[in-house]
Amino acid sequence: MPKRAQMIFIVLIFSFSARTMPETERDDPVFVGYEGCQMCHRDEFADWRRSKHAKAFELLRPGNRKVAKKRAQLDPDKDYTTSNKCLKCHTTGYRESGGFINIDDTPTRIGIGCEMCHGPGSDYRKIHKSKPLSFSRDEVMTAGQVYGSTDPEVCNRCHKNKDAPMNPRIDKEYEFNLEERLKNTRSFHKYYKSKGHGTPNVQITEHLE
Ligand code: HEC
Ligand code: HEC
Ligand code: HEC
Ligand code: HEC
Repeated sequence: MPKRAQMIFIVLIFSFSARTMPETERDDPVFVGYEGCQMCHRDEFADWRRSKHAKAFELLRPGNRKVAKKRAQLDPDKDYTTSNKCLKCHTTGYRESGGFINIDDTPTRIGIGCEMCHGPGSDYRKIHKSKPLSFSRDEVMTAGQVYGSTDPEVCNRCHKNKDAPMNPRIDKEYEFNLEERLKNTRSFHKYYKSKGHGTPNVQITEHLE
Protein backbone atom coordinates (compact mmCIF):
# COMPACT_ATOMS: atom_id res chain seq x y z
CA MET A 1 0.00 0.00 0.00
CA PRO A 2 1.35 3.50 -0.74
CA LYS A 3 2.32 5.49 2.36
CA ARG A 4 -0.54 7.96 2.14
CA ALA A 5 -3.19 5.25 1.76
CA GLN A 6 -1.64 3.43 4.67
CA MET A 7 -1.95 6.52 6.84
CA ILE A 8 -5.60 7.06 5.90
CA PHE A 9 -6.26 3.40 6.64
CA ILE A 10 -4.75 3.69 10.12
CA VAL A 11 -6.68 6.86 10.90
CA LEU A 12 -9.92 5.23 9.76
CA ILE A 13 -9.36 2.14 11.89
CA PHE A 14 -8.52 4.34 14.85
CA SER A 15 -11.59 6.55 14.60
CA PHE A 16 -13.77 3.52 13.95
CA SER A 17 -12.56 1.67 17.03
CA ALA A 18 -12.74 4.81 19.14
CA ARG A 19 -16.36 5.33 18.13
CA THR A 20 -17.49 1.74 18.58
CA MET A 21 -15.83 1.26 21.97
CA PRO A 22 -18.38 1.57 24.78
CA GLU A 23 -18.15 4.83 26.75
CA THR A 24 -17.28 3.24 30.06
CA GLU A 25 -14.47 1.12 28.64
CA ARG A 26 -12.89 4.04 26.88
CA ASP A 27 -13.12 6.30 29.92
CA ASP A 28 -11.94 4.02 32.69
CA PRO A 29 -8.41 4.81 33.84
CA VAL A 30 -5.88 2.03 33.21
CA PHE A 31 -2.59 1.01 34.83
CA VAL A 32 0.53 2.50 33.26
CA GLY A 33 3.26 1.03 35.52
CA TYR A 34 5.94 2.92 37.44
CA GLU A 35 7.52 4.13 34.22
CA GLY A 36 4.54 6.46 33.89
CA CYS A 37 5.51 8.21 37.15
CA GLN A 38 9.25 7.89 37.66
CA MET A 39 10.40 10.70 35.35
CA CYS A 40 8.56 13.30 37.44
CA HIS A 41 8.78 11.69 40.89
CA ARG A 42 12.39 10.65 41.13
CA ASP A 43 12.69 10.73 44.92
CA GLU A 44 9.57 8.68 45.50
CA PHE A 45 10.65 6.27 42.81
CA ALA A 46 14.14 5.77 44.25
CA ASP A 47 12.68 5.31 47.68
CA TRP A 48 9.98 2.93 46.51
CA ARG A 49 12.52 0.79 44.64
CA ARG A 50 14.16 0.00 47.97
CA SER A 51 10.87 -0.64 49.78
CA LYS A 52 9.37 -3.95 50.80
CA HIS A 53 6.32 -3.17 48.72
CA ALA A 54 8.43 -2.98 45.54
CA LYS A 55 10.01 -6.32 46.39
CA ALA A 56 6.84 -8.10 47.48
CA PHE A 57 6.73 -10.29 44.36
CA GLU A 58 9.95 -11.99 45.46
CA LEU A 59 8.10 -13.41 48.46
CA LEU A 60 6.21 -15.70 46.08
CA ARG A 61 9.36 -17.49 44.90
CA PRO A 62 10.24 -20.90 46.30
CA GLY A 63 12.61 -20.86 49.26
CA ASN A 64 11.82 -17.29 50.37
CA ARG A 65 10.45 -16.74 53.90
CA LYS A 66 10.21 -20.46 54.51
CA VAL A 67 9.33 -20.21 58.20
CA ALA A 68 6.49 -17.75 57.60
CA LYS A 69 5.11 -19.86 54.76
CA LYS A 70 5.13 -23.04 56.83
CA ARG A 71 3.40 -21.28 59.69
CA ALA A 72 0.67 -20.17 57.25
CA GLN A 73 0.38 -23.74 55.93
CA LEU A 74 1.82 -22.87 52.55
CA ASP A 75 4.44 -25.01 50.81
CA PRO A 76 7.80 -23.22 51.22
CA ASP A 77 9.24 -24.96 48.16
CA LYS A 78 6.36 -24.17 45.83
CA ASP A 79 6.59 -21.47 43.15
CA TYR A 80 3.64 -19.12 43.75
CA THR A 81 4.63 -16.56 41.07
CA THR A 82 1.81 -17.71 38.80
CA SER A 83 -0.80 -18.41 41.46
CA ASN A 84 -4.15 -16.62 41.23
CA LYS A 85 -4.37 -16.86 44.97
CA CYS A 86 -1.40 -14.55 45.48
CA LEU A 87 -0.96 -12.18 42.54
CA LYS A 88 -3.67 -9.62 43.34
CA CYS A 89 -1.76 -8.44 46.43
CA HIS A 90 1.84 -9.00 45.28
CA THR A 91 1.72 -7.32 41.85
CA THR A 92 0.33 -4.15 40.27
CA GLY A 93 -3.14 -4.27 38.73
CA TYR A 94 -3.48 -8.03 38.35
CA ARG A 95 -6.47 -8.83 36.11
CA GLU A 96 -7.13 -5.13 35.47
CA SER A 97 -6.57 -3.14 32.26
CA GLY A 98 -2.88 -2.37 31.84
CA GLY A 99 -1.97 -4.43 34.89
CA PHE A 100 0.19 -7.46 35.61
CA ILE A 101 -0.21 -10.47 33.31
CA ASN A 102 3.02 -12.41 33.76
CA ILE A 103 6.72 -11.82 34.45
CA ASP A 104 7.78 -11.71 30.78
CA ASP A 105 5.01 -9.54 29.31
CA THR A 106 4.62 -7.06 32.18
CA PRO A 107 7.96 -6.80 34.03
CA THR A 108 7.14 -3.28 35.30
CA ARG A 109 3.98 -4.49 37.06
CA ILE A 110 5.93 -6.85 39.28
CA GLY A 111 5.58 -5.96 42.97
CA ILE A 112 3.29 -3.43 44.62
CA GLY A 113 3.74 -0.39 42.40
CA CYS A 114 2.79 3.26 42.78
CA GLU A 115 -0.67 2.68 41.39
CA MET A 116 -1.65 0.10 44.02
CA CYS A 117 -1.72 2.98 46.50
CA HIS A 118 -2.45 5.92 44.19
CA GLY A 119 -4.89 4.34 41.74
CA PRO A 120 -4.48 3.47 38.04
CA GLY A 121 -2.62 6.43 36.58
CA SER A 122 -3.48 6.87 32.89
CA ASP A 123 -5.80 9.84 33.48
CA TYR A 124 -4.66 11.67 36.62
CA ARG A 125 -1.02 11.71 35.48
CA LYS A 126 -2.15 13.91 32.58
CA ILE A 127 -3.60 16.37 35.08
CA HIS A 128 -0.37 16.34 37.13
CA LYS A 129 1.37 17.27 33.93
CA SER A 130 -0.97 19.94 32.66
CA LYS A 131 -1.58 21.75 35.99
CA PRO A 132 1.41 20.78 38.14
CA LEU A 133 0.84 23.28 40.91
CA SER A 134 -2.85 23.94 40.73
CA PHE A 135 -4.80 20.72 40.44
CA SER A 136 -7.43 20.02 43.05
CA ARG A 137 -7.96 16.77 44.87
CA ASP A 138 -11.46 16.57 43.49
CA GLU A 139 -10.34 16.61 39.89
CA VAL A 140 -7.58 14.04 40.29
CA MET A 141 -9.89 11.81 42.31
CA THR A 142 -12.48 11.99 39.55
CA ALA A 143 -9.69 10.82 37.23
CA GLY A 144 -9.00 7.80 39.44
CA GLN A 145 -6.40 8.94 41.99
CA VAL A 146 -6.88 7.65 45.53
CA TYR A 147 -5.37 8.88 48.81
CA GLY A 148 -4.15 6.23 51.22
CA SER A 149 -3.82 8.79 54.00
CA THR A 150 -7.56 9.54 53.95
CA ASP A 151 -9.11 6.41 52.43
CA PRO A 152 -8.49 3.42 54.71
CA GLU A 153 -9.47 0.97 51.97
CA VAL A 154 -6.25 1.69 50.07
CA CYS A 155 -4.10 -0.17 52.61
CA ASN A 156 -6.75 -2.30 54.28
CA ARG A 157 -7.82 -4.12 51.15
CA CYS A 158 -4.47 -5.94 51.35
CA HIS A 159 -3.54 -5.64 55.01
CA LYS A 160 -6.95 -6.44 56.46
CA ASN A 161 -8.12 -8.80 53.78
CA LYS A 162 -9.15 -12.20 55.01
CA ASP A 163 -7.86 -13.78 51.77
CA ALA A 164 -4.29 -12.99 52.87
CA PRO A 165 -2.60 -16.14 54.16
CA MET A 166 -0.46 -14.00 56.50
CA ASN A 167 -3.06 -12.59 58.84
CA PRO A 168 -3.55 -12.11 62.59
CA ARG A 169 -5.13 -15.55 63.00
CA ILE A 170 -1.69 -16.98 62.14
CA ASP A 171 0.35 -14.51 64.18
CA LYS A 172 -0.29 -11.21 65.96
CA GLU A 173 2.63 -9.63 64.11
CA TYR A 174 0.31 -9.35 61.11
CA GLU A 175 -2.13 -7.09 62.89
CA PHE A 176 -2.45 -3.83 61.03
CA ASN A 177 -3.35 -0.55 62.64
CA LEU A 178 -3.65 1.98 59.85
CA GLU A 179 -3.40 5.07 62.04
CA GLU A 180 -0.16 3.84 63.55
CA ARG A 181 1.29 2.77 60.22
CA LEU A 182 0.58 6.13 58.69
CA LYS A 183 1.89 8.04 61.70
CA ASN A 184 4.80 6.01 62.94
CA THR A 185 6.37 4.47 59.90
CA ARG A 186 7.53 5.74 56.59
CA SER A 187 6.57 2.51 54.96
CA PHE A 188 4.99 4.21 51.97
CA HIS A 189 7.61 6.92 51.44
CA LYS A 190 10.69 7.55 53.43
CA TYR A 191 10.62 11.10 52.14
CA TYR A 192 6.96 11.65 52.78
CA LYS A 193 6.27 15.10 54.08
CA SER A 194 3.47 16.55 52.08
CA LYS A 195 2.17 19.94 53.11
CA GLY A 196 -0.88 19.25 50.99
CA HIS A 197 -1.76 16.33 53.24
CA GLY A 198 -5.45 16.35 54.12
CA THR A 199 -6.18 19.66 52.46
CA PRO A 200 -8.30 20.07 49.36
CA ASN A 201 -5.59 21.59 47.19
CA VAL A 202 -2.19 20.20 46.47
CA GLN A 203 0.77 22.23 47.69
CA ILE A 204 4.42 21.92 46.91
CA THR A 205 6.04 19.04 48.69
CA GLU A 206 9.20 19.24 50.77
CA HIS A 207 11.51 16.30 50.74
CA LEU A 208 13.58 15.28 53.74
CA GLU A 209 17.25 14.76 52.96
C1 HEC B 1 4.55 15.08 34.07
C2 HEC B 1 4.98 14.90 35.44
C3 HEC B 1 4.18 13.96 36.32
C4 HEC B 1 3.83 12.65 36.08
C5 HEC B 1 4.10 11.83 34.82
C6 HEC B 1 3.20 12.17 37.29
N1 HEC B 1 3.14 13.18 38.22
FE1 HEC B 1 2.40 13.03 40.12
N2 HEC B 1 2.69 15.03 40.40
C7 HEC B 1 3.36 15.86 39.54
C8 HEC B 1 3.40 17.20 40.12
C9 HEC B 1 4.09 18.40 39.49
C10 HEC B 1 2.73 17.11 41.36
C11 HEC B 1 2.45 18.26 42.36
C12 HEC B 1 3.67 18.57 43.20
C13 HEC B 1 3.97 17.50 44.19
O1 HEC B 1 3.10 17.19 45.04
O2 HEC B 1 5.10 16.95 44.18
C14 HEC B 1 2.32 15.73 41.52
C15 HEC B 1 1.69 15.24 42.64
C16 HEC B 1 1.49 13.89 42.91
C17 HEC B 1 0.97 13.36 44.15
C18 HEC B 1 0.54 14.17 45.37
C19 HEC B 1 -0.87 14.63 45.18
C20 HEC B 1 -1.43 15.41 46.36
O3 HEC B 1 -2.61 15.79 46.26
O4 HEC B 1 -0.72 15.63 47.34
C21 HEC B 1 0.94 12.00 44.02
C22 HEC B 1 0.48 10.99 45.04
C23 HEC B 1 1.44 11.68 42.68
N3 HEC B 1 1.77 12.85 42.04
C24 HEC B 1 1.54 10.42 42.17
C25 HEC B 1 1.83 10.14 40.83
C26 HEC B 1 1.78 8.80 40.26
C27 HEC B 1 1.46 7.54 41.02
C28 HEC B 1 2.11 8.93 38.94
C29 HEC B 1 2.16 7.83 37.89
C30 HEC B 1 0.94 7.08 37.66
C31 HEC B 1 2.36 10.35 38.68
N4 HEC B 1 2.17 11.04 39.85
C32 HEC B 1 2.75 10.87 37.45
C33 HEC B 1 3.89 15.51 38.31
C34 HEC B 1 3.74 14.29 37.68
C1 HEC C 1 -5.42 -10.23 50.14
C2 HEC C 1 -4.04 -9.89 49.89
C3 HEC C 1 -3.01 -10.98 49.91
C4 HEC C 1 -3.04 -12.19 49.25
C5 HEC C 1 -4.15 -12.76 48.38
C6 HEC C 1 -1.75 -12.80 49.51
N1 HEC C 1 -0.98 -12.00 50.30
FE1 HEC C 1 0.90 -12.40 50.95
N2 HEC C 1 0.85 -10.71 52.09
C7 HEC C 1 -0.16 -9.79 52.12
C8 HEC C 1 0.14 -8.76 53.10
C9 HEC C 1 -0.73 -7.57 53.43
C10 HEC C 1 1.37 -9.11 53.68
C11 HEC C 1 2.12 -8.35 54.76
C12 HEC C 1 1.69 -8.84 56.13
C13 HEC C 1 2.42 -8.08 57.24
O1 HEC C 1 3.66 -8.04 57.20
O2 HEC C 1 1.73 -7.56 58.13
C14 HEC C 1 1.79 -10.34 53.02
C15 HEC C 1 2.99 -11.00 53.32
C16 HEC C 1 3.41 -12.17 52.72
C17 HEC C 1 4.65 -12.85 53.01
C18 HEC C 1 5.71 -12.41 54.04
C19 HEC C 1 5.33 -12.91 55.42
C20 HEC C 1 6.43 -12.79 56.46
O3 HEC C 1 6.11 -12.87 57.66
O4 HEC C 1 7.60 -12.66 56.09
C21 HEC C 1 4.70 -13.96 52.20
C22 HEC C 1 5.82 -15.00 52.13
C23 HEC C 1 3.48 -13.96 51.42
N3 HEC C 1 2.71 -12.86 51.75
C24 HEC C 1 3.16 -14.95 50.50
C25 HEC C 1 1.91 -15.06 49.91
C26 HEC C 1 1.53 -16.19 49.09
C27 HEC C 1 2.43 -17.38 48.75
C28 HEC C 1 0.24 -15.96 48.68
C29 HEC C 1 -0.66 -16.86 47.87
C30 HEC C 1 -0.83 -18.23 48.37
C31 HEC C 1 -0.15 -14.67 49.24
N4 HEC C 1 0.88 -14.16 49.96
C32 HEC C 1 -1.39 -14.07 49.02
C33 HEC C 1 -1.31 -9.81 51.35
C34 HEC C 1 -1.71 -10.88 50.57
C1 HEC D 1 2.28 1.37 49.89
C2 HEC D 1 1.58 2.49 49.29
C3 HEC D 1 2.32 3.45 48.38
C4 HEC D 1 3.11 3.14 47.30
C5 HEC D 1 3.47 1.76 46.77
C6 HEC D 1 3.50 4.40 46.72
N1 HEC D 1 2.98 5.44 47.44
FE1 HEC D 1 3.16 7.42 47.06
N2 HEC D 1 2.17 7.90 48.78
C7 HEC D 1 1.48 6.97 49.55
C8 HEC D 1 0.68 7.70 50.54
C9 HEC D 1 -0.22 7.06 51.58
C10 HEC D 1 0.97 9.08 50.36
C11 HEC D 1 0.35 10.28 51.14
C12 HEC D 1 -0.66 10.95 50.23
C13 HEC D 1 -1.85 10.05 49.94
O1 HEC D 1 -2.65 9.81 50.85
O2 HEC D 1 -1.98 9.55 48.79
C14 HEC D 1 1.89 9.18 49.25
C15 HEC D 1 2.38 10.36 48.73
C16 HEC D 1 3.01 10.47 47.50
C17 HEC D 1 3.39 11.71 46.87
C18 HEC D 1 3.20 13.11 47.47
C19 HEC D 1 4.53 13.76 47.74
C20 HEC D 1 5.37 13.10 48.79
O3 HEC D 1 6.44 12.50 48.47
O4 HEC D 1 5.00 13.18 49.96
C21 HEC D 1 3.94 11.41 45.66
C22 HEC D 1 4.50 12.38 44.64
C23 HEC D 1 3.93 9.95 45.52
N3 HEC D 1 3.35 9.42 46.67
C24 HEC D 1 4.38 9.27 44.41
C25 HEC D 1 4.57 7.87 44.38
C26 HEC D 1 5.25 7.17 43.31
C27 HEC D 1 5.81 7.81 42.07
C28 HEC D 1 5.26 5.84 43.65
C29 HEC D 1 5.90 4.68 42.90
C30 HEC D 1 7.29 4.85 42.48
C31 HEC D 1 4.55 5.72 44.92
N4 HEC D 1 4.17 6.96 45.32
C32 HEC D 1 4.31 4.52 45.59
C33 HEC D 1 1.50 5.60 49.40
C34 HEC D 1 2.24 4.90 48.46
C1 HEC E 1 -1.38 -4.56 47.08
C2 HEC E 1 -1.30 -4.93 48.48
C3 HEC E 1 -0.78 -3.90 49.47
C4 HEC E 1 -1.18 -2.58 49.61
C5 HEC E 1 -2.18 -1.80 48.78
C6 HEC E 1 -0.44 -2.06 50.75
N1 HEC E 1 0.41 -3.02 51.24
FE1 HEC E 1 1.69 -2.82 52.79
N2 HEC E 1 2.47 -4.66 52.41
C7 HEC E 1 1.98 -5.55 51.48
C8 HEC E 1 2.81 -6.75 51.47
C9 HEC E 1 2.63 -7.98 50.57
C10 HEC E 1 3.82 -6.56 52.44
C11 HEC E 1 4.89 -7.55 52.89
C12 HEC E 1 6.28 -7.14 52.48
C13 HEC E 1 7.31 -8.04 53.14
O1 HEC E 1 7.04 -8.68 54.16
O2 HEC E 1 8.45 -8.08 52.62
C14 HEC E 1 3.56 -5.22 53.02
C15 HEC E 1 4.32 -4.64 54.03
C16 HEC E 1 3.99 -3.48 54.69
C17 HEC E 1 4.67 -2.98 55.86
C18 HEC E 1 5.87 -3.61 56.55
C19 HEC E 1 7.11 -3.38 55.76
C20 HEC E 1 7.74 -2.03 55.91
O3 HEC E 1 8.19 -1.46 54.89
O4 HEC E 1 7.87 -1.54 57.04
C21 HEC E 1 4.02 -1.80 56.23
C22 HEC E 1 4.35 -0.92 57.43
C23 HEC E 1 2.97 -1.57 55.27
N3 HEC E 1 2.98 -2.62 54.35
C24 HEC E 1 2.12 -0.48 55.27
C25 HEC E 1 1.22 -0.18 54.25
C26 HEC E 1 0.44 1.05 54.18
C27 HEC E 1 0.50 2.17 55.20
C28 HEC E 1 -0.30 0.95 53.03
C29 HEC E 1 -1.26 1.96 52.46
C30 HEC E 1 -0.75 3.30 52.25
C31 HEC E 1 0.00 -0.32 52.41
N4 HEC E 1 0.91 -0.98 53.18
C32 HEC E 1 -0.58 -0.78 51.24
C33 HEC E 1 0.88 -5.37 50.67
C34 HEC E 1 0.22 -4.16 50.49
